[in-house]
Amino acid sequence: MSSEAKCSKPACDKFVAINELAKRRGFFWPSFEIYGGSGGFVTYGPLGTRLKQNIEAKLRELFVKKIGIYEMESSVIAPGKVFEASGHVDHFKEPMVECQNCHGRFRADHLLEEKGISAAEAEKMSLEKTGQELERHGVVCPDCGGKFNPPTRYLTMFETTIGPYQGSVGYGRPEAAQNIFVEFNRLYTTARERLPFGCLQIGHALRNEISPRQGLIRLREFTIADLEFFFDPEEPTCDKLKEVEDEVLPILLCETRLKECQDTTELTVREALDRKVILSEWQAYFMAMAKRLLIELGVPASKQRFLEKLTWEKAHYSSQSFDQEVLVDRWGWVEVSGHAYRTDYDLACHMKASGVDMTVYKEYPNPIESEELTVKPNMAKLGPVYKGEAAKVAALLAKAPAQEVADAMQKQGSYIVDKYEIKADQVDIRTQKTLVRGKRFVPHVVEPSFGSDRLFYVALEYAYGIKDDRVVMSFPRSIAPIQVGVYPLMSKDGLDVKAKEVQSMLACEGFMTEFDETGSIGRRYARADEAGVQLGITIDYDTLKDSTVTIRDRDSWQQVRTPIKDLPKLLHQFFEGKLNFPQLGIIIET
Ligand code: ATP
Ligand code: GLY
Repeated sequence: MSSEAKCSKPACDKFVAINELAKRRGFFWPSFEIYGGSGGFVTYGPLGTRLKQNIEAKLRELFVKKIGIYEMESSVIAPGKVFEASGHVDHFKEPMVECQNCHGRFRADHLLEEKGISAAEAEKMSLEKTGQELERHGVVCPDCGGKFNPPTRYLTMFETTIGPYQGSVGYGRPEAAQNIFVEFNRLYTTARERLPFGCLQIGHALRNEISPRQGLIRLREFTIADLEFFFDPEEPTCDKLKEVEDEVLPILLCETRLKECQDTTELTVREALDRKVILSEWQAYFMAMAKRLLIELGVPASKQRFLEKLTWEKAHYSSQSFDQEVLVDRWGWVEVSGHAYRTDYDLACHMKASGVDMTVYKEYPNPIESEELTVKPNMAKLGPVYKGEAAKVAALLAKAPAQEVADAMQKQGSYIVDKYEIKADQVDIRTQKTLVRGKRFVPHVVEPSFGSDRLFYVALEYAYGIKDDRVVMSFPRSIAPIQVGVYPLMSKDGLDVKAKEVQSMLACEGFMTEFDETGSIGRRYARADEAGVQLGITIDYDTLKDSTVTIRDRDSWQQVRTPIKDLPKLLHQFFEGKLNFPQLGIIIET
């Protein structure tokens, strides 16, 4: 989270209002409440589950369907080796302090941020310096006012054993990306051994956050959407760049941040690439797409920015990183997605640790002639000297770097391998001409990584509005958790039967519907507005006479009258964005 992400507002801000509404209406609430709760875990209720699915569907629509990205699903727990190889066991740590009195534990850098130190500065500090700064600012335990022990680094991965074996360490994945890397060879085969290609994994991630106090923004179990896009670093061109090159990206550049300034630089994707602000075309493309995704979720462009990460803020695997941030009421700028150029780091790490080749082969358009130095053991000479060990010596020689052998022979007339001194006449050193038809290399990766829960939170915050003292959740049409509410004016005289018929017809047409017959129609509209139901269809006595209904719009509260038989076609067009509300029927003056 960014430097500005600290609580600065009284308890009446949108964060409080949304959390209260979320509990009351079943969007989400803290889990395990009957046992007093457990920080950092949430449960999505009926409305929230649907909204989250719609948000993830939007992500899939933009990133999977439109770009042609693959998807995969793998396990949340991985053997220790995976996260040892990836560098997470060494690096996935946060600075932590413990209260000497109540033993409460807190993120040391976040405590400093609350004292006005920027996240960038706090993150850069050594443990010793962090301790000194906490003392200098007189930071004490927020819970009991106690003094802190010196800071330590805490591994924020959940550790477990796989099976009942002490030595068999496993970790809960803190990112979905590693599954994609470890399965690269199979995915590459599925991709018909062609680059570039991308694979997305949406699933739960676990991070044992030290003191999560920010609702959906900081959870210990959350949903991550990691997209790993593999390409040949010698062919880094993005063939989709044309579609986004005029998209403006507001970027808070490193150079600006180092001057303690918060001004963003507005650059089109093309300008950002030409000025080498963004190093990879694919990364720039995904950043533009991420901006579009957030707009589709209801966050205007003016409330979004990209933060270029400073060297010491970048994850250990990244050569260039940007955080996509959204401005929210209580926490300021909050990261919703991270964009990292992971180069060949992860595949190379897994190759080294597993011993499995993860390179890909590319054929040159025209074979290249090359000269190769070769060293061949001369068995006729080696045999009599080394006898039973001759084969072993030959094998050692075969593995020795040819140039090194040649240089040694030229300089001192012999080459030492293991404990054997090889004489010049015991090897044949030759330069051979070969036709090289291609080469093997490790693909490069750019990664956009979204947190579904943060996307969900910002969608709620930007949908939240008050109209005539009532809450209206104005979700964009395409993500509204319920598209159509169907309401009989009265629960009698056949109106309820007719309303059920209409609801069933719309449900069969594929619309997400609800039926509500409880309370006055005004109360039902108010409930629907709070739940973000886009359209309300009321069945009244005229419906029984002329088969027309009233449709009410959640945002404008306008009403139109429309024949039931026209509903499917009109509503499909409306939800596809082809019609505006007044085009759904004859406007009723209210
Ligand atoms: P932060 O700096 O806020 O801790 P991060 O830089 O560690 O985030 P990434 O590792 O880039 O985050 O993770 C990718 C995305 O996952 C983030 O952009 C965010 O949307 C989401 N995310 C990360 N940590 C959490 C968390 N504890 N709870 C909810 N979402 C999270
Ligand atoms: N993707 C976040 C991390 O693993 O560091």
